[in-house]
Amino acid sequence: MSTEPFKNVCLLPQSNQLTGLYTIIRDKTTTRANFVFYSDRIIRLLVEEGLDHLPVVKKTVATHTGEDFEGVGFKGNVCGVSIVRAGESMEQGLRDCCRSVRIGKILIQRDEETAMPKLFYEKLPEDIADRYVFLLDPMLATGGSAIMATDVLIKRGVKPERIFFLNLICCEEGIQNYHKAFPDVKIITGCVDKGLNEQRYLVPGLGDFGDRYYCI
Ligand code: PRP
Ligand code: URA
Ligand code: MG
Repeated sequence: MSTEPFKNVCLLPQSNQLTGLYTIIRDKTTTRANFVFYSDRIIRLLVEEGLDHLPVVKKTVATHTGEDFEGVGFKGNVCGVSIVRAGESMEQGLRDCCRSVRIGKILIQRDEETAMPKLFYEKLPEDIADRYVFLLDPMLATGGSAIMATDVLIKRGVKPERIFFLNLICCEEGIQNYHKAFPDVKIITGCVDKGLNEQRYLVPGLGDFGDRYYCI
């Protein structure tokens, strides 16, 4: 499903089921165990949606009834690239859907005072330019981190239209900043929040995703 007024943004269907999951992970009283469990459920939905955007070719198989089934087969290879640390939380969801998928890492950290991103490290599959890339980071706030990560991918030869940026929460400002730099990357998200606060955190948001998933 694509959503107006954002071009090249795919928003998961806003069902009661999905809203219920977000209600749990946004609740500040939710324990870390529950935060992980319910975030993982949303991540799985994002990955399944992302896979649905990949090209397929017609494929016919013979069934046990003696009849053929005219279906499709996936075309091309996928890899994941997580923006460390919080993005690593999305790796298992991708592994659960794509057996032995290759995963690259880009370590980018937002400065706590200025919210400006800093790149520390990258390690990507050698053949990444030949793959469809699922860029993984749960939060798209100002867009600075994702822009920096996408720059790394483009410099490695990945075509923007082969990148799918999966995140749990974003906002209009982040979408616009990101798409100003990379209009051809598809953003796949579960929620568009109302904006950013003074500390450049998403609101209503859920706080620091990495802290809630890994630490507190
Ligand atoms: C968070 C988040 C994104 C970034 C989003 O990471 O996981 O990478 O901030 O903000 P932006 O869109 O304004 O750049 P953070 O730097 O807090 O590090 P973490 O993954 O260790 O939590
Ligand atoms: N990073 C987070 O973890 N949360 C936000 O709201 C913004 C950046
Ligand atoms: Mg980060």
